[in-house]
Amino acid sequence: MASEFDTTKLYSENGSPVADNNHTLTAGERGPMMLQDNWMIEKLAHFDREVIPERRMHAKGSGAYGTFKVTGDISQYTKAAVFQPGAETEVFVRFSTVAGERGAADAERDIRGFAMKFYTPEGNWDLVGNNTPVFFLRDPKKFIDLNHVVKRDPKTNMHSAQSNWDFWSSLPEALHQVTIVMSDRGIPASYRHMHGFGSHTYSLINEQSERVWVKFHLKTNQGIKNLTDDEAAQIIAGDRESHQRDLFGAIERGEFPSWRFCIQVMDEATAKNYKENPFDITKTWSQKEFPLIEVGTLELNRNPENYFAEVEQAAFAPTHLVPGIGLSPDKLLQGRLFAYGDAQRYRLGVNHNHIPVNRPRCPYAEFHRDGAMRTDGNFGGAIGYEPNSYGQWQQQADAAEPPLDLFGPMDAWDPADDPTDDTFYQPGDLYRLMEEPQRAALIGNTARNMEGVTENIRLRHAAHCYKADPEYGDRLAEALGVDAVRVHELAQMTHEERMAATGQQVPTRK
Ligand code: HEM
Repeated sequence: MASEFDTTKLYSENGSPVADNNHTLTAGERGPMMLQDNWMIEKLAHFDREVIPERRMHAKGSGAYGTFKVTGDISQYTKAAVFQPGAETEVFVRFSTVAGERGAADAERDIRGFAMKFYTPEGNWDLVGNNTPVFFLRDPKKFIDLNHVVKRDPKTNMHSAQSNWDFWSSLPEALHQVTIVMSDRGIPASYRHMHGFGSHTYSLINEQSERVWVKFHLKTNQGIKNLTDDEAAQIIAGDRESHQRDLFGAIERGEFPSWRFCIQVMDEATAKNYKENPFDITKTWSQKEFPLIEVGTLELNRNPENYFAEVEQAAFAPTHLVPGIGLSPDKLLQGRLFAYGDAQRYRLGVNHNHIPVNRPRCPYAEFHRDGAMRTDGNFGGAIGYEPNSYGQWQQQADAAEPPLDLFGPMDAWDPADDPTDDTFYQPGDLYRLMEEPQRAALIGNTARNMEGVTENIRLRHAAHCYKADPEYGDRLAEALGVDAVRVHELAQMTHEERMAATGQQVPTRK
């Protein structure tokens, strides 16, 4: 997106030439400044407003354009144009770290955002994913608490391992995500060297209006590459922008990173009778039972021309769906549906979808009018109501989804009360899948990360690890310097008993 302006000469906001950009008008040679120096006032006033709110999460990021090419055939599952055989679609992708602020270092231990905007002929489809297939929690009410513990302590204004681990270890369902973040994959060497996941269960709908449930996967063609804590510390000491530098540089050099785009599919009947809740984001679907189906390739091949315009102002939202791709009953996903547009109306304004990077590339008219920063023709004199007698603004019934059966009465359900719920076997499977060097890295990283955390929380976390796999728990207990026998006792307790037995140890705030 090159600038359409002639930047060789200096003009003010009303398009008039600026006569002097170096000397402010003063009353006399040594006198005070004049308010009538319009250019000085305009320059200062604009500068005062140049910072916009950063994203509450995922504030530090890197973006690039590219292409998604379909090489497989999943038209039996979806009518979405973006997935039809041979389709090529322009994309914009923004990668990010999650907990750090806009100026944070890239090479930190954290999950990574992997947000994709597909400019399809039927509107923009945003797949706002991460580099991990699961998440810390499964109820949107807890997301805010998660942010409060990974962000800065309200008193010290520093990151607090104590709060972080107190919260994580109070949610047994977090263990799967915590195990991944503490593993060697917790610090990717770059955005190019990691996989991507939609993480939630979504749906696909075909021409016959049949629905299947789906998980989205992106497999890096660059191979997985990670950093140890030591390597990352060395990089950060010399370069806080290592991921941005890597991605930008690779694309400038013509080394275009790419990912294999795959899906897993589960039919509605299987989902109803499945051994556990297939809409629980703290669990993955077995790839043996639901094998990966290859769909196409996502390649990034063009750097943005202007970081602020295109990356900082990019706005992704899980509500941005197209016909043939739908949501699921996943509670966490449902919570996200409100949060993104709401955050962007605050961060960028009500007309943020008109910003070029966010604008659909297909012909469309979104009905909304007016609002701050409406910079197009605002649909001129077209009427603003429907139904009407002029054939205007007609709804498009073809885009409707098939009805979905729901499950039982309304209540504030706790997934832990579901007798099929087991939050420990998957982190255990993951541990058992690791080779010895990965196990050692997981234990070492966790112990370093938990430095300074009170004993009650170290015991609680080790007990969860023990429940996942006894070796995982025992090795961690040793690395954390806590009593293994006590860990075994705690592992036998119910969650409530364990919380009561490991509660209330007040740390000194550093
Ligand atoms: C960014 C909320 C869970 C991935 C954001 C933003 C909000 C938010 C408010 C900032 C949006 C903006 O200012 O543009 C939430 C809530 C969640 C949730 C309330 C749970 C209830 C998740 C999950 C994933 C995810 C499960 C991944 C699977 C992302 C990514 C971004 C983001 C990648 C950055 C998008 C970008 O690059 O602009 N989230 N989030 N979030 N979130 Fe979430």
